[in-house]
Amino acid sequence: MTTKHFLNLRDLSNQDILNILDRAIERKSQKQKEKTLIGSKLGLIFEKPSTRTRISFESGILNLGGNAIFMSSSDLQLSRGEPVSDTAKVASSMLDVIALRVDKHETLDMFAANSSVPVINALSDLSHPCQILADLMTFKENSVSELEKVCWIGDGNNVCNSYIEASKILDFELSIYCPKEYSPDPSFLNYAKQNSSFANSREEAAKGADIITTDVWVSMGDEKTKERAFEGYFVDTDLIENTGKKSIFLHCLPAHRGQEITFELMEHPSSKVLQQAENRMHVQEALIENLLS
Ligand code: CP
Ligand code: NVA
Repeated sequence: MTTKHFLNLRDLSNQDILNILDRAIERKSQKQKEKTLIGSKLGLIFEKPSTRTRISFESGILNLGGNAIFMSSSDLQLSRGEPVSDTAKVASSMLDVIALRVDKHETLDMFAANSSVPVINALSDLSHPCQILADLMTFKENSVSELEKVCWIGDGNNVCNSYIEASKILDFELSIYCPKEYSPDPSFLNYAKQNSSFANSREEAAKGADIITTDVWVSMGDEKTKERAFEGYFVDTDLIENTGKKSIFLHCLPAHRGQEITFELMEHPSSKVLQQAENRMHVQEALIENLLS
């Protein structure tokens, strides 16, 4: 049997995603969490900082009955030049599933190609698929109707790329308002060209959207790139209140008040960002079950 990895959202089918969302909601409702993976070991190899992803994976695997081993890449022999392929072979001989947060997506591909156990993308420069599972779960909890439209405002970054994939897999419209020079990855746009398109204004992108979302202007690892010009690419309460729908606001966090969002937005009734952050844990529990089944 081939090893199942989760490097991009498209590694899951539409049905896989729906099953994972249902299972995550079921597990969330359990006071006593069903321990379906007693003794399983999750490795976490992180090249970048994290709050939500690390906490959600570590607590999620405990809820499943397993254990996590967190490794900052700077503490591993990787930092002294040990090849990714050797690290993957050794780590996967002792662990059951491994999540990596990497600077370069190619590191994930190389790791997965040499791993005998499932590898999960815990964020790369290219994509952040675990985040989108949590966003979809949060929408499902807050709405009785189907997801028809998502509005993305700001940098066409890793999170945006994963939203583009979601638009195709789940067949919704994604309207992106971003500066031309910070457009999403062309291969992702090409993958979902029927579902994802660009808007000419914040209002156009937001019109009729069920979800309004955004992200930091400067992602981790982008600090050294040229001056970022995102003035005008922000979300405020006006935008949310005038979509013509009962929209929810999501943000993967961390958020920068005064940049991509206004100061009061996080506390607006439409904002589901804390629920969204907690859902990272529930949805990743369901994802790990799926990958190890
Ligand atoms: N959303 C998210 O991935 O947050 P962290 O960077 O804190 O893990
Ligand atoms: N786009 C952001 C997401 C952080 C969770 C980054 O890569 O830094």
